[in-house]
Amino acid sequence: TRIADILHNWQSIGIGNTVNLKGWVRTKRGNKNVAFIALNDGSIIHSIQIVVELAGFDEGSMKLITTGSCISVNGTLVESPGQGQAVEIQAKEIEVYGTADPETYPLQKKGHTLEFLREIAHLRPRTNTFGAVLRMRHAMAYAIHKYFNDNGFYYLHTPIITGSDAEGAGAMFRVTTLDAKNPPLTGTGEVDYSLDFFGKATNLTVSGQLEGELGALALSNIYTFGPTFRAENSNTPRHLAEFWMIEPEMAFYDINDNMDLAEDFLKYLVRYALEHCMDDLEFLNKMYDNELIDRLKFVVENDFQRLTYTEAIDILKASGQKFEFPVDWGTDLQSEHERYLVEKHFQRPVILTDYPSHIKAFYMKQNDDGKTVRAMDVLFPRIGEIIGGSQREEVLEKLIQRCREMHIPEKDIWWYLDTRRFGTAPHAGFGLGFERMMLFVTGMANIRDVIPFPRTPQNAEF
Ligand code: 4AD
Ligand code: MG
Repeated sequence: TRIADILHNWQSIGIGNTVNLKGWVRTKRGNKNVAFIALNDGSIIHSIQIVVELAGFDEGSMKLITTGSCISVNGTLVESPGQGQAVEIQAKEIEVYGTADPETYPLQKKGHTLEFLREIAHLRPRTNTFGAVLRMRHAMAYAIHKYFNDNGFYYLHTPIITGSDAEGAGAMFRVTTLDAKNPPLTGTGEVDYSLDFFGKATNLTVSGQLEGELGALALSNIYTFGPTFRAENSNTPRHLAEFWMIEPEMAFYDINDNMDLAEDFLKYLVRYALEHCMDDLEFLNKMYDNELIDRLKFVVENDFQRLTYTEAIDILKASGQKFEFPVDWGTDLQSEHERYLVEKHFQRPVILTDYPSHIKAFYMKQNDDGKTVRAMDVLFPRIGEIIGGSQREEVLEKLIQRCREMHIPEKDIWWYLDTRRFGTAPHAGFGLGFERMMLFVTGMANIRDVIPFPRTPQNAEF
């Protein structure tokens, strides 16, 4: 039986009945006569208490039960006389599956810093914090699929290996071919990593958007949800080299429809967390961020503030605030500016639109003013940019003109231009950084702590 099922449904399981539990020992304490084991199987933040009357048990095997060991317990479900839990297990039989030498097992019962846990990323899922984060990550991924499925969107699988550079950001991971048994060698005898993907230059995708547009201009509403890669060497608490992105793309949507969808989607996800992850949220709220649950409720219940980039620049310039990066019309916003708008000025999520064209990607729809594009960024408290998106330029001639200005060879994206050549349509979409969303719903401060295996310039061992 899963410990979650026992703690949630002990009444229907029935006091006095025998259950079997398997899990990892968090702590063991007691005296000569009785031992109390806190057992956790990852199904819920709480551990269940196993009470062992030592007289009936072999002393040698009891010694093997230490923090980190794995055991299987047959026992009776009883009401707990102690405080803090309704039920506990009176052990009848215990089998030790795996020991964990107390001299070398790194996760002893004392609290560990998140920095230390990053160094043992292979074992940190066994902590309360990472159990909570990983269960919530699962719940959010499920909610994302549920939201789009319930709203008539199709999940489109876009390629990981691609010849296109959707964002024009330039920072990509190159894909090479390598016969592992018989690697090609350079003149000096080292492995030659310079070979391309069967003779073509390819990279790991930075975004599924351009392929997503191909899907939207056939199926009307699609979304992608997969890993994306950026080779930027930025060591911040909000950037990863490998992160997951959700990219809906909708035919017949304009920028306002796009903003409405983004706001509704984000509120749905936060509401889902409040309705389905309360055990974990209460733990995280208590441990790391005592405003977490209030902040989530606030976002669900209040409208996002919408304004243009130009209006935002005016606010920032009039703020009298000393920013590390000065702001002026035409400069890209840094996270300090975004967070000022969200946390100080409006005190709510913000959607900025109509950015200068020269700081945005080639595919965004041009406004009539000749200098801005129909971009939209959603800015969140503690995070800054959580979503980036836009209405797309659907007019072939204008799109080709932008490609020329930005030195994007037409022959490289002929397939993309074909969508505008044949049956073009107004359309729009956006990208949500999954880990940025996880930072928001868990209250964690560092993006390395909301993904099981963070890929950063320091970390790619396993
Ligand atoms: O703003 P970005 O670069 O937009 C795109 O990639 C568009 N193609 C999306 C679209 O319109 N379909 O990235 C989208 C989001 C950002 O708002 C941010 O949340 C996240 O992806 N993101 C990152 N998250 C973690 N680490 C990084 N290095 C990230 N770069 C972007
Ligand atoms: Mg962006």
